[in-house]
Amino acid sequence: MKLFVDTGDVEEVRQAVEWGVLDGVTTNPTLIAKSGKGFRETVLSMCHLLPDGDISAEVVATNYDEMLKEALEISSWHSQIVVKVPLIEPGIRLVSTLADKGIRTNVTLVFTVPQALMAAKAGATYISNFVGRVDDLSDDGMVAVQDTVRMVQDYGFESEVLVASVRHPLHVVQAIQAGAHVSTMPFKIMQMLFKHPLTDSGLKRFLDDWNQAGLSIFEKQTASV
Ligand code: E4P
Repeated sequence: MKLFVDTGDVEEVRQAVEWGVLDGVTTNPTLIAKSGKGFRETVLSMCHLLPDGDISAEVVATNYDEMLKEALEISSWHSQIVVKVPLIEPGIRLVSTLADKGIRTNVTLVFTVPQALMAAKAGATYISNFVGRVDDLSDDGMVAVQDTVRMVQDYGFESEVLVASVRHPLHVVQAIQAGAHVSTMPFKIMQMLFKHPLTDSGLKRFLDDWNQAGLSIFEKQTASV
């Protein structure tokens, strides 16, 4: 499963890139607004930090003509950019147009299988299925992910299912169990994927035992060796 970080903060991307496990970045208008930096500059910095990664950048217009203009502008900035498009009627029309032009898209704000069907048929590269926002309404957001993965596999769609609106590591586990292609998450959730108290206590014990024995990896070799 590909791992994307969901952020508008270039520093977070820089840190995640250092781990060598990052496949891409998703942004949205809220995250870019929160960053306090320009949209183009932020997205281009992310492309440079992660040269093989997919960087999603979202249009903000809601009528087809304006959305198309924005999409062509955004995609002209860099070949790594994936144009993020909301799942509204003109958005699906836009995805079809962009697919014909070979421009990759990430359809966002997808909550149901029928919506995912529209995105897949239009030729979306990624279908961003939001789970946390559904869970917030006392429903199970992961059910639509499971059904969408099955739909994509059964009908041979080329779209990849991207689990978005991830709130905790259990969502990541469930995304894996559902066979999702990608999971995007805030940087702090990605940091939590490392954590286990038994890892911390186990490491402490190993190091205490090692140090008490006075051992060193760089010990001097004896003449007989
Ligand atoms: C995905 O691309 C979205 O930016 C994101 O996952 C939304 O998450 P939220 O529901 O936590 O805002």
